[in-house]
Amino acid sequence: MPLINRHLIDPNDLTLEELQQIIELGLKMYNQPKAYSEICKGKILGTLFYEPSTRTRLSFESAMLKMGGTVLGFSDANTSSAKKGESIADTIRVLDDYADILVMRHPREGAPLLASQFSTVPVINGGDGGHQHPTQTLTDLITIQNYRGSISNLKVAFCGDLLFGRTVHSLLKTLSRFENISFVLVSPSELKIPCHLKEEIQQEYNVEIIETTSLEEHLPEIDILYMTRIQKERFFNEEDYVKLKDCYILNQAKLKHAKDNLLILHPLPRVNEISYDVDDDPRAKYFEQAKLGVYVRMALMAMLLGVA
Ligand code: CP
Repeated sequence: MPLINRHLIDPNDLTLEELQQIIELGLKMYNQPKAYSEICKGKILGTLFYEPSTRTRLSFESAMLKMGGTVLGFSDANTSSAKKGESIADTIRVLDDYADILVMRHPREGAPLLASQFSTVPVINGGDGGHQHPTQTLTDLITIQNYRGSISNLKVAFCGDLLFGRTVHSLLKTLSRFENISFVLVSPSELKIPCHLKEEIQQEYNVEIIETTSLEEHLPEIDILYMTRIQKERFFNEEDYVKLKDCYILNQAKLKHAKDNLLILHPLPRVNEISYDVDDDPRAKYFEQAKLGVYVRMALMAMLLGVA
């Protein structure tokens, strides 16, 4: 089924072939942006951000502007009529006349899915609660493809808040579908990945998973290290957050034992979990990752709008 006019709510909405097509087009756009600078002329992106964001919202906006389109929307629900009690359904019924494609971030899991049920234009999930973040996954995959040349035969470590981290949930599920991927999941016992997710990826894809509390233990074998921040906004009380907030800090001393071709990724924002002395390490690619996020979102929107 072509991608035109579809919604993207969960990374599993895309087949492996479609994921690869989006990544391939994203890399073409990255290498030759001028060739795509007018393909969205006359198109409007609507951004509905009910929760804070820097990269997701602004990379979507940048992506649409780089393709010659325009953008409208809100970055704070308090400045929208949600503050007066308007439902998502009513907001969407109005907004889908104002824009050709919508991206929504919401603190409630399932809100973008609900939006998609009322929308006549494509709805993209820009992150829903601790659930999924499919366009961050596209960003992560394009970065792996660009710097490793392929998304297969990799041992991938996720480190930090694996319970609440939606970027982790989406990427774990998606990487499980690629060839010969295994995982090392590094977290405090309070922040392990949800059991249902672990069971799903083990049963459906038969992926090897090692769970540990030690970042150092498996570092020498790792190909990709995906660091994440502890998700303060998802904790029920401050005391629990404070206890866990600095549980893993990646620094140069720890990286001495890692592979020379390790790829260090982070969806950002970083709080304290990667020390600034890592930023100049050639293995650190988290700022390049954020940059590639613009181009993969260009590719996604161009395909959903049927202009590429
Ligand atoms: N990675 C990510 O989703 O960043 P923002 O919260 O800044 O959008």
